[in-house]
Amino acid sequence: MTTLVTGIAELVTNDPGLGVVTDAALVVDDGRVAWVGPARGAPDADRRVDVGGRAVIPGFVDSHAHLVFAGDRAAEFEARMAGVPYDGGGIASTVAATRAASDDDLRTRLRALVAEMRAQGTTTVEIKSGYGLTVDDEARSLRLAREVTPETTFLGAHVVPPERDRADYLALVTGPMLAACAPHARWVDVFCEPASAHAFDGDEARAVLEAGRAAGLGLRVHANQLSAGPGVRLAVELGAASADHCTHLTDADVDALAGGTTVATLLPGVEFSTRSPYPDARRLLAAGVTVALATDCNPGSCFTSSMAFCLALAVREMRMTPAEALWSATAGGAAALRRTDIGHLAPGARADLAVIDAPSWRHLAYRPGVPLVRTLEV
Ligand code: NIG
Ligand code: FE
Repeated sequence: MTTLVTGIAELVTNDPGLGVVTDAALVVDDGRVAWVGPARGAPDADRRVDVGGRAVIPGFVDSHAHLVFAGDRAAEFEARMAGVPYDGGGIASTVAATRAASDDDLRTRLRALVAEMRAQGTTTVEIKSGYGLTVDDEARSLRLAREVTPETTFLGAHVVPPERDRADYLALVTGPMLAACAPHARWVDVFCEPASAHAFDGDEARAVLEAGRAAGLGLRVHANQLSAGPGVRLAVELGAASADHCTHLTDADVDALAGGTTVATLLPGVEFSTRSPYPDARRLLAAGVTVALATDCNPGSCFTSSMAFCLALAVREMRMTPAEALWSATAGGAAALRRTDIGHLAPGARADLAVIDAPSWRHLAYRPGVPLVRTLEV
């Protein structure tokens, strides 16, 4: 069954050859893009979908989210807006609520968040564990996440749970917990943040990442969120797919990213929701670093599911151009997940489409907070 999508005022392909096609059409065959070009040259297809003069973009790739949790931290957010700084200490309250929740409760919440994302144009989402922090609760989180995405990440090394000794917990995370979780995960991640009493220093993070790699997992790192620690350089040294946050960077960190294969994933919703200075996106782009944008949707540091909101922040607060921000929220996310089948709309790519209820993709950042984007099922 082939579908011809017509009425596309602007089609953003993220393909270096095709670029942005105006008055475009696109043919989908069995979930894949089969043809892209000007509408006047479009081939016939079994059925037609007319998007009525709107812009079409690749679906957003949200490469960083924490969606398996219970509980609520609105009071923590309120306190933060009154001046209490974010240090990761609130994670323990989500851990307690998550452990106490039933599978059905966690599944219902998770699916609601994924649906909320899809309704706003996100077609791929990475989902981390990290609010269980026991062998069974981490494995359960990943089993549930696997039901809704192939991009699952073991984050047993989120924080040391309050009831555990640090060295014992590290042995658990790199031993039995990893063994129980690796079959349900594609990636391993660690919150590398020596400035937080709850997270992990460089040596601990290295141990987590090396153990994960030995178990066959790809690497990602929560790096340099609260301070200029060793996380970014460690990520690059170990060939991680992505170093996420990158809020506090030294020249050595930027040089390392520029010389390596690790994507810098920026999460400006976190700086918005923790009232912190934004990462220096321009410095990274000037150095030639591949930059991705993601939500970090989680109940503590940033509870938004909206990639469009993060894109608007990237443009307004980090001075990314609208084109750079859109690329980073789609193709950049794909690079951060080492995926070549998503984030672009050239023939052969997955037909993950999002429609903007506007004649130009530029309206995404131009009309912040307006729900213009939806996914297009074909
Ligand atoms: O990416 N930094 C660590 N983890 C999350 C926040 C988790 C939470 O506060 O619940 C983050 O910001
Ligand atoms: Fe995170």
